[in-house]
Amino acid sequence: MEKDLIPFISQAEITQKVQQLAQQIDLDYQGQNLTVIAILKGSFIFLADLVRAISTPLERIEFLQLSSYGSNTVSSGKVSVLQAISPELIYNHHILLVEDIVDTGLSISTTYTLLQSHQPTSLRLCSLLDKPSCRRQAIKIDYCGFSIPDYFVLGYGLDIDQKYRQLPDIYYLSPS
Ligand code: IMP
Ligand code: MG
Repeated sequence: MEKDLIPFISQAEITQKVQQLAQQIDLDYQGQNLTVIAILKGSFIFLADLVRAISTPLERIEFLQLSSYGSNTVSSGKVSVLQAISPELIYNHHILLVEDIVDTGLSISTTYTLLQSHQPTSLRLCSLLDKPSCRRQAIKIDYCGFSIPDYFVLGYGLDIDQKYRQLPDIYYLSPS
């Protein structure tokens, strides 16, 4: 059955926001090299746009795969790392984590604990979306695109049951 998708954030609004985030990141990392770690899969389109807008030299781009949702729209509360990163890529490096959306905060807090244990020089978070009303773990988002209500959103990389990631705009699922 097709889902009822309601237009929420347009491609043009996203493009403008990505430029603003990249400008702030460039200001903050002047004279430094940056390692970007993107959390799969939801962040892949945001990552592709963001890194092309950043001028700071990127030492490397790595991917971390987590799993928490299954095919549900409510967080299971269980987060596991499906694909990890070598500790030497983190030790003594400036790390910028790129995420699509922070909901309960459990994925990011698990990731932070993992990355901090490898002693990065700095660790910051850039998330396109934030759902602060759903938080179960306090999280500082250093670079935040849009703060949104408790909607389940889709498109621009975000999925439900792996679908709709290809949509250029962001939609929310009509509460039925
Ligand atoms: P958290 O651990 O609850 O913060 O969950 C974060 C992850 O859940 C994100 O990286 C997304 O993959 C997924 N997620 C949370 N909210 C949504 C949503 O509204 N749409 C699609 N995926 C979501
Ligand atoms: Mg995700």
